[in-house]
Amino acid sequence: MSVKYYKRYRMEFNLRRRSIPSVPKPNNFEFLAWDEDLLESHAEVKCNSFSHELDSIVFPCLGDPVGCLQLMREIASRSGFLPGATWMAAYVGDDPTLPYYSATIQGLATADRVGSIQNVGTVPGQRSKGLAAALVVRALAGFHAAGLRRASLEVTAENSRAVRLYERLGFRHVRTVYKAVEVAYS
Ligand SMILES: CC(C)(COP(=O)(O)OP(=O)(O)OC[C@H]1O[C@@H](n2cnc3c(N)ncnc32)[C@H](O)[C@@H]1OP(=O)(O)O)[C@@H](O)C(=O)NCCC(=O)NCCS
Repeated sequence: MSVKYYKRYRMEFNLRRRSIPSVPKPNNFEFLAWDEDLLESHAEVKCNSFSHELDSIVFPCLGDPVGCLQLMREIASRSGFLPGATWMAAYVGDDPTLPYYSATIQGLATADRVGSIQNVGTVPGQRSKGLAAALVVRALAGFHAAGLRRASLEVTAENSRAVRLYERLGFRHVRTVYKAVEVAYS
């Protein structure tokens, strides 16, 4: 085995200084607030969003249905879990080939009152419709309603699409960190 280091950006949104951006509501979607009954669907959407993507190499559990279910259970059972910052986008249009559960986001409050965004993911067939932006904005509103001072997330630097999304919404790069990943020799 050898170790590869992935560069990750910590990005933050100052909830005291910036107003929450407004983004267009995507057509043909509704946004479902957290409900315990949705836990497995969040896990499934997480897996469908991350498998075959870079982050499933950086965090192998994201590419695996069982790993995503365990992760989702772990997130929902944390003391800082914030239902108000946890959302699911559901498709209500009339194309039967498109999945109902389409995009997920989860939010946690850390001990120092920072809102931590977990695993934003949109399934491949529903991308570029504004779902991730709409979910991040809902999570920010949930953090704000919980009285948190800033929101934080980490993104793999090579994931330019996600970095662009967060920058567009007002997140700023505050730190660079490296995640070590064990890789088999080829
Ligand atoms: C990154 C990710 C979450 C983005 O999800 P998404 O729902 O496609 O994001 P959005 O639609 O809000 O924005 C993405 C792009 O669509 C564009 N877009 C939004 N609404 C649109 C519309 N109605 N028509 C056309 N384009 C649109 C946005 O401008 C944006 O363009 P850009 O990539 O050139 O900046 C998604 O690609 C994904 O799940 N990737 C794998 C998992 C992952 O890496 N998650 C991030 C972990 S930090």
